[in-house]
Amino acid sequence: MKYAEFCTGIGGFTLGIENSKLDAELVYANEIDSNCEKTYRLNFGRGFDSSDLFEINPKELPDFDMMCAGFPCQPFSIAGQQKGFGDQRGTVFFKLLDIIKEKKPKVIFFENVPNLKRHDGGRTFQQIKELLEDEGYELHDKILDSSYFGVPQSRPRIYIVGLRNDVKGKKEFTFTEKITKKTPLRPYLNNGDYSIPISDKWQFYIDLYTDKKNEEDSPFPLPKTRKHLERKAEGCDLDDCVFQIRSSGIRAYSIDEPFPTFAVSNSGGGAMIPVLSKERRHLNLVEMRRIMGFPEEYDLSKVSRTDAIKELANAVCPPVITSICNDISVVID
Ligand SMILES: C[S@@+](CC[C@H](N)C(=O)[O-])C[C@H]1O[C@@H](n2cnc3c(N)ncnc32)[C@H](O)[C@@H]1O
Repeated sequence: MKYAEFCTGIGGFTLGIENSKLDAELVYANEIDSNCEKTYRLNFGRGFDSSDLFEINPKELPDFDMMCAGFPCQPFSIAGQQKGFGDQRGTVFFKLLDIIKEKKPKVIFFENVPNLKRHDGGRTFQQIKELLEDEGYELHDKILDSSYFGVPQSRPRIYIVGLRNDVKGKKEFTFTEKITKKTPLRPYLNNGDYSIPISDKWQFYIDLYTDKKNEEDSPFPLPKTRKHLERKAEGCDLDDCVFQIRSSGIRAYSIDEPFPTFAVSNSGGGAMIPVLSKERRHLNLVEMRRIMGFPEEYDLSKVSRTDAIKELANAVCPPVITSICNDISVVID
């Protein structure tokens, strides 16, 4: 099987596919971001077509049997303004559709935020589904949470698999929904790695939330949203937890649960990177890579720390891709 990857990022699909039962060879990859390419090249020993997707002439692409894409999710996420197809980035889907019309791959494999399904009262998703069905594909979709695939992060994402009507086998396609129990963060911590130390402000917040200091002890004016924790997860020990800054306040999460969805906002600056209260430090890159289910040898050293975190936060979790490819391998003749 030959496959092409669009909106490649740092190759989350490729990593997942390589570990799956599909004997698939990458024949084409496209991604516009030159920083992603630095990381991609370092890890895969090759670059990709870095042209804007909208500049691609579908007729000039090599033939492939499977199209993979985690197309930009901002237009559909609840965090964004929900402009959907009215937003230029949302129209990446239509460009992918043009390519599908030309290349007619046997399998289409998309990933996106779960809100894609609810966006515009379900009309956006319905439109995607109908347009692909009109091209002769049987569509399957499921929201899967990475934490059931051995990844210590609760990351619900919608996965869409389209099988060309004439190639789907006799067996009905089904998504495996869980291969592990919910994966807690604790075993994935790289204890004692202080590569991203916390600021004095953070030291004070930890003292404040763990009752070692009072509001009045603050050496700086305390913003209203920082005076108290905005939320504390059930069963969470504040002396041994993860603190995460959100625009609305600081939340405390248990280390014995999966980490909550790792978002691009985590790369918004040093202070945004989650903090471990016990060791009084930010999560380090090793831990962030593990939270995304990327392999230990995956190297992010060619870009700045902020870019590395952003690239990870935008990626798909490879173990979920592996599981879905195994599901695809069951039905493809
Ligand atoms: C959600 S990320 C996908 C990440 C990827 N699945 C991974 O595992 O790293 C979407 C990607 O689409 C890329 N992208 C957005 N618009 C594009 C365009 N017009 N042409 C090419 N790539 C584009 C972005 O640069 C971004 O890396």
